[in-house]
Order: sequence, then structure tokens, then C-alpha cells
Amino acid sequence: MSDPSAELKRLAGETAADLVESGMVVGLGTGSTAIFATRRIAARLREGGLRDIVAIATSLATETAARALGIPMLDDDLPGSVDITIDGADEVDERLDLIKGGGGALLREKIVAQASRREVIVVDESKLSPRIGTRWPLPVEVMEFGWRAQARFLESLGAEPVLRHTDGGAFRTDQGNLILDCRFGPIADPAGLAAALSTRAGIVEHGLFLSIADDLIVAAPGGVRHVARGDAGLPALLWPAA
Ligand code: A5P
Repeated sequence: MSDPSAELKRLAGETAADLVESGMVVGLGTGSTAIFATRRIAARLREGGLRDIVAIATSLATETAARALGIPMLDDDLPGSVDITIDGADEVDERLDLIKGGGGALLREKIVAQASRREVIVVDESKLSPRIGTRWPLPVEVMEFGWRAQARFLESLGAEPVLRHTDGGAFRTDQGNLILDCRFGPIADPAGLAAALSTRAGIVEHGLFLSIADDLIVAAPGGVRHVARGDAGLPALLWPAA
């Protein structure tokens, strides 16, 4: 089935790809929006407008796609610093705090984002939210060992955790872990929740990306908007009312 928001995703992704400059180390995000940025970067390399970049992928799926497109990839480890990363998100609030992990790549996405000097998030307008947690469950990556204990812990924090499945059984991340999708409803204190999740053994990572995004590129039927964290008047410009 075709994705009705695909054209908006393409606009957002391609706009972000034009921020990449020759010589940069580039983080390539995961998902149906970020792939448009990856394709546009590959096209710019082919056309000769972009040179001497090297990329690091946020998932095995993105790595496979980028290699097939001919983008030069770093072989193993993350470099000390990534100049720019372009990635998608599932939900974005007016502080540019995010929920990510709908595709299950949250751990590598966060590792690359935290190593990046500039994290650019690309979305269509359906991802804008008055408060993260309103529209999307929070993905939490857990080790298989003891995962039911993590589910009970998450329930004690107010969530309704559901083990993510695919047709073939439990979904596995690139690291072989499980995902618990946790419906919290609107999250009043994202920083407090992130702190509680971070101290729990067996929770590998969670999809709260707080104070990580530097730029947001939003595509809507009326056009593409590019805003930076801290810009005055962000809520009035873009966000739906709470
Ligand atoms: C991958 O794990 C996610 O964090 C994606 O970046 C996020 O789900 C956005 O994906 P789409 O652009 O496909 O909606």
C-alpha cells in the first residue's frame, strides 16, 4: 500500500540532505523519511556536487541501503565526532524533544546522535505533538533475559508495555534484544522518566531523545519549515494545541 505522506517525507529528507557539505562525516538515520536523505546524498555524490564524505549508519538496514547506493561507509567504529546526522522521529514536541524507535533502531540512533555535532530531524507534520507520549508508545529496548521483570517495572511507572512482534515472532533489534512498546499517554516529566529508565539493569536503551535534536525540518502541505531548537515562537508556528 502506498504511504500518503511519502511526498512530505521526501521533501523533508531531501531538504536536510542539502545541508551536507563536502568532507563531512555524516550519520545516516533509519526509517521511511531518513531514507530520502540517504538517497539524495547518494545522488549528490553521483552528480559531483558533493565529495569526500564518509558515512556511519544508524542501523543494519540503513547500512545495506547506503552501500547499495554507493555511499562511502566507515567500516567499524564510530569516529570521535560526526559532523551532521539526519534522522527521523515518531513524535516531536515544541522543545524538539523526541520519541524515536518505531523502527527499532533507537540504540544505534542515540549512539550516533550523541556523537554528532548537529542532529537534524526530518518529519512530516503528522509527527508534531503537543506532548511526547500523546500519539506514540515509547519503545524500550530490553535484554531477553528477565524481560518480564522489565515489563512489570515499566507498568509500575504507569506504562502499558507490549512486546513488539513481527510475523515470525518477537521482534529483534540489530543487537538481538527485544522491544517493549510502552503506552504512557502524554509524558509530563520526560527527563524524570528518562532518568528512571536509565538506572534499571536490563533496560538497554529507551526512545526518549531529550535535548539531542538541533534542527527540525518539517514538511507540510503548505511547504517545508526549518527550525532550530530554542527558536522563539516555535509553538505558534507549528504545533497543534495541547
Ligand atoms: C527508527 O528506529 C526510528 O527511530 C525512526 O527514525 C522513526 O521511527 C521514524 O521513522 P519514519 O520516518 O519511518 O516514520
